[in-house]
Parts: sequence; C-alpha cells; structure tokens
Amino acid sequence: MTVPYAVGFTMTPGEVAMDALAVQGNLPSWLAGTLIRNGPGAFQIGSQSYRHWFDGLAMLHRFTFQGSRVSYANRYLQSKSYLGAKETGTITHAEFATDPPRTRFERVMAVLSPHVTDSAKVNVAKIAGRYLALAETPIQLEFDVQTLQTVGRFNYEQRAVGQMTTVHPQFDPANKWAYNVVTRYHAVSHYNLYRIAESGQMQRLAAVRAMQPAYMHSFGMSERYLILTEFPLVVNSIDLLLWRKPYIENFRWEPERGTPFTIIDRLTGEVVGRFDCDPFFAFHHVNAFEQQDELIVDLVSYDDASIIQSYYLQRLSDPANELPIGTLRRYRVPIRTKHSRVKEEIISEACLELPRFDYERYNTRRDYRYVYGCGIHPEHRAGFYNQIVKGRIPNGNLQTWHEAGCYPGEPVFVGRPDRNDEDDGVLLSVVLDAVSGTSFLLVLDAQALEEIARVEVPHPILFGYHGEFFGEPVNG
Ligand SMILES: [Fe+2]
Repeated sequence: MTVPYAVGFTMTPGEVAMDALAVQGNLPSWLAGTLIRNGPGAFQIGSQSYRHWFDGLAMLHRFTFQGSRVSYANRYLQSKSYLGAKETGTITHAEFATDPPRTRFERVMAVLSPHVTDSAKVNVAKIAGRYLALAETPIQLEFDVQTLQTVGRFNYEQRAVGQMTTVHPQFDPANKWAYNVVTRYHAVSHYNLYRIAESGQMQRLAAVRAMQPAYMHSFGMSERYLILTEFPLVVNSIDLLLWRKPYIENFRWEPERGTPFTIIDRLTGEVVGRFDCDPFFAFHHVNAFEQQDELIVDLVSYDDASIIQSYYLQRLSDPANELPIGTLRRYRVPIRTKHSRVKEEIISEACLELPRFDYERYNTRRDYRYVYGCGIHPEHRAGFYNQIVKGRIPNGNLQTWHEAGCYPGEPVFVGRPDRNDEDDGVLLSVVLDAVSGTSFLLVLDAQALEEIARVEVPHPILFGYHGEFFGEPVNG
C-alpha cells in the first residue's frame, strides 16, 4: 500500500503491557475505568495476506484510566484461528472475505465449508457478568479485562441454532437483558431472536422465517419492539453450505426486494408486522423509539451495499479510492396505522459511520439529541475516515474534529457522572497518526468537540471497529 494510512492495515509490532503512557493535556479527574478496543491485529500471516478490512486476527487493547495515569496493554485473542496461524504460519480459518488457500485436491473433491473463524474481533460486551469478544460467527470468547488473557468460549446453548449473528447486542436499560439475533442457514432458514438475563439464563423469543437470509450486522430495539431490518443483500443457504467462495461473496444485492422491516414484540416474541421500504443498506442501527402511531428507527444508511466492496484492502490501497458515504437517516414505521410503507428521511447528508450515542441513558428514548461517529472531510474525500463528527438529532447540524494526517476510529462517549446535559462528557477515539506512524488515544470534550488530552501509544494500532468503556476499576 502507498496510501498514508497504510500502516493501519499491516501488522501490530508486538504484544505489550505498559504502566503509564505519556499524556498531553489534562484528563478529566472523573474519568476512571477501562476502554477496551477490539479489531484486527494482523492482516498478514507469513506470506499470506487477508483481503478485506473485516478479516484479520483479533487483538484486544486496554486503556485503563486511574487519576492522571493511563496504563495500556494489547494482546491477541487466543482463538483457534490465531493458534492455527501461529502454529502453521498460514491462514487456517475462513474469514469474512478470505478463505484459507485450498489444495487442488480439496477443490476437486469439493471439500468445502472450511473452518470458520472464531477470531472474535468485531466488538466487546459485558453479558451475564462476563467480558466477551464478539464475532459474526456466534462464537464469543471470554477474556480477562485486566490481563486480556483469553478465558475460553462463552458456552451458551444458542450456539446450536445458528451460524451467524450480529455483533451488536442490545441491552434493556431496565433489567440489562442482552438481546441478539442468530441466523440459521438451512433448507428453511430462520432469524432466531433471543435474550440472556444477568443470571446467564437464555430464552429464545422468536424464530422469523427467511427464504433468503439477509446480511445483517445489527438490529434495532425500542422500548417495546425488536426491529429486523432485512437489507436486500441476501444469500441462498445452499451457497453457504457449499462454500465455494468466501462468506460475504455468496451474498447478492437484489434491490427489487426493498428493505422490509419486521417488528417483533420483545416481551412476547410475537411478530406484530412487516413493513415495506425502498432498498437501502446499513451496518449500524443507532436508536429506535415509539412516537404516537410510528416506530422511529435511526440508522446509518447507504443506497446500496457497495461499501462492502470498498473495504477490500486492494481498494483501500488506492489513493484515489472514495468510500461511499453513509448518512444518518430516520425511518418512520407506521406501526399503528393501516399503512404498510416505511418513510425515509435524511437527517444529515454528511458522512457518519461507526455511530455512538449515550446508549446507557438514551437508548430507546425519543429525547436523544446527539450521535457521534467517524466521517470523511469533504475537502479530503479520498482515502479513509479522517474526522470525528457529532450530529444533532433531528436536524443533523454537525460539529467536526479533524487534524491533517490523522485517522480516528470509533468515538466512544463516556458521560460525566451526575451530568444534566446529554453531551456532558468525553469522546475516546484511537487515532492513527500517519505522519509519525504511531497511534494515540484522543480525548475530546463531547460538547465542544475540542481536544482535552491525547494519550500517546508508542506503536501503531491497526484500524479496528468497536470498543466499550467499562466504568469499574481495574488494576492496570
Ligand atoms: Fe459494527
């Protein structure tokens, strides 16, 4: 790669644990706890390379804030994918868009369905008291939040009823139940919706039939409903069972299907309606709430699924590559009327991806006002995400943070304890500085979107996806 941010798609130099990183500026005295980031730690294994941003071996990063000190550690997740790669020096498990090389014999004999990755690199969550690294394959690896040591697979029975899941569980603000969807590819496929209580007890809520399942990276949740948004990027289950090509390449864009919304009562599991909408694609639901006769669902949407092609490393290595722009859009589901069509409104035309908001306080609430994310500066359009944006709901007014040569990741909002204003807090974003070839953790005032502090990491952190701030003390 010759692009300035190329180092973000290479190899992490090594695993380290550091007591204190250099801090520029002043950290808020109230900021105490641990930020865990997840993402790829290596895009190359020996002489073999992964092909897509969503491939790679999972690496966890921990930033622990104690007073003015920030400790840091990183560690590969000890998945079978990682151990296999370490032992053989080759890619041993199928990823999102990369299959392990097959021998000619395997190809001729159609020895298909390679080992599918357990490299849980996409997100982290605390479910039933355990810290879990999450993958789209419903294999969740528990880790120790202090040492980042892999504890083992999170053993829950639901694994048996599906092959793919979303990596964005939704949490009930009242009882902390975690909800998620697992897709079971079969002769008759289903989306299985389930929840896990704090006790670890699991309950299947509903099984929604899908003739050709959609690729879904997240789903929505309001106070009363779960929302399955079936983007018309669909697959024949037989193609996945035969596995002639990498996972995502079995899916086809069929816009004539539109993007139907299926609404499920999250207490009873009853499917209360299915509503048609013009075709669009999204990775991320933001928030959802009920308002009079409508169910409002906010998403970061694209007109089609070409964003997936744009994340192939070959495309990202082209300095002229322009990523499709995901924008914040509002969908009005006429849940209590005779109408059956969902209306779409664009909240903001600006690029916003990896959306975050004050989930802890405002999830499922109609009075939320702020969404934070990564964006692309309109005058520096080619390349990768190069600014942090803050959008205001519902009119989309934007504030931005941009610094030349810097590529920020998902901004995680951490609220000041006892705050009155929704945006009274900080945003934490791991930024790759392409000039120095190292990364730093940027601490932004979430109201002004101005820098308060930056915590310097002495090496590059590869471009990751998601993370979470856990407000409990960890001895770092
Ligand atoms: Fe995501």
